[in-house]
Amino acid sequence: MTRHSLPPADRAAANLAAAGRSAELVGLIRGEIDRAAEYRIPFSRFMELALYEPRLGYYRQTADRPTDGGDFLTAPETHAIFGWTIARRIESMWHEMGRPRPFSLIEYGAGSGTLALSILDGFRRHGSTDLLEAVRYAPIESNPKRLADLGRRFGEAELAAALVPATPSDAATPSDAATPSDAATLTVGVVLANEFLDALPVHRSVFRGGKLLELYVVWRNGFAATAAEPSTPELAARLADDGVTAQLEEGQVVEICLGLELWLDDVARRLARGYLLAIDYGYDAADLYGRRRLAGTLLGYRGHRVVDNPFADPGLTDLTAHVDFTAVQRLAERRGFVARSLSTQQEFLVAVGLEQELRALQASPDLTLADYARARSGIVRMLDPRHMGRFRVFIAGRDVDLATAALTRPR
Ligand SMILES: C[S@@+](CC[C@H](N)C(=O)[O-])C[C@H]1O[C@@H](n2cnc3c(N)ncnc32)[C@H](O)[C@@H]1O
Repeated sequence: MTRHSLPPADRAAANLAAAGRSAELVGLIRGEIDRAAEYRIPFSRFMELALYEPRLGYYRQTADRPTDGGDFLTAPETHAIFGWTIARRIESMWHEMGRPRPFSLIEYGAGSGTLALSILDGFRRHGSTDLLEAVRYAPIESNPKRLADLGRRFGEAELAAALVPATPSDAATPSDAATPSDAATLTVGVVLANEFLDALPVHRSVFRGGKLLELYVVWRNGFAATAAEPSTPELAARLADDGVTAQLEEGQVVEICLGLELWLDDVARRLARGYLLAIDYGYDAADLYGRRRLAGTLLGYRGHRVVDNPFADPGLTDLTAHVDFTAVQRLAERRGFVARSLSTQQEFLVAVGLEQELRALQASPDLTLADYARARSGIVRMLDPRHMGRFRVFIAGRDVDLATAALTRPR
């Protein structure tokens, strides 16, 4: 993520401007609640506006943020070794598929291109120049500023030829992301999503008196939650399909991402043949909706701090909920994908060759002690089971030759 080091005066001005934008967004959401039937909106609609309202949403803002260094640091931003390691897996996918050319790398939530650039750098480091020449990288990113940064960075890295320019419909809001792609855009390659799915809006529900209610957002001198009959039977259906209805406890709060269906429709429309590789906070359904998470997993982040109140400072707070990988797998399979594996990020990175990447880095003649220390601390964060090491990595293939591959059962 882009870092900002604003001088104090500019920072104060940015704070004021940000507070103004958030107040405007509060007014806008409140207006929608006032016009809604029964004066309430599903939490998913609140989250959609808070993150994606075209001018004021958290993921759409182009203005400087008052917080230094953004609100979160993703694995590819901690060190390029993350991308170099993923490059190894993509290389093996490319070989398994018979080295097709061109080979698309489609990335949802591409940000300013940090992960993509380190993957392409990984191809170069590994001597995979054929793959580097075959790759066509297509970013899908809702933030216009990050997309512009990405284009500039690809130019600076002399990789502009590999970049498929994003079209306006690719700069997706959750609903835009479902825009049917032209059949001509169907491609062969890999779809990548790192820390993208946890931002898709979720409905919130509560299990009360033996049945599932929905937690809506109302206005009572501020945003508040209220429980009522669900707005759609799809919420209960999702939990039933996941096989977790019977395990819910009285008073348990759950988040349900119905947008996964639209996202996987979009993935299936874009990718004719190839692999899906999704990395995120998440669990299988039994765990996600288990006793250890009775209050759900919805969280806000602001300035590297966790914000418990999801209604605090909309537009300035990143909102996330852990991903239900059982649903991702089932919905992907319904669209013709075959699940390959579901592992933790720690297991995945070690199995794919993080250690070999570290050894290659150690052997590089111009490595400084500071570079080495940075790599080590990045690796610790990526592998730490209390931190990013517990993220899940889901891989599924569509129309790829799986005959010779060992199918691991998702855990
Ligand atoms: C947590 S960041 C991850 C960025 C990058 N994948 C990484 O690993 O560093 C999430 C990114 O997804 C983008 N994003 C969130 N929702 C999106 C959507 N519905 N469509 C396209 N981009 C989205 C955000 O603007 C942000 O750049």
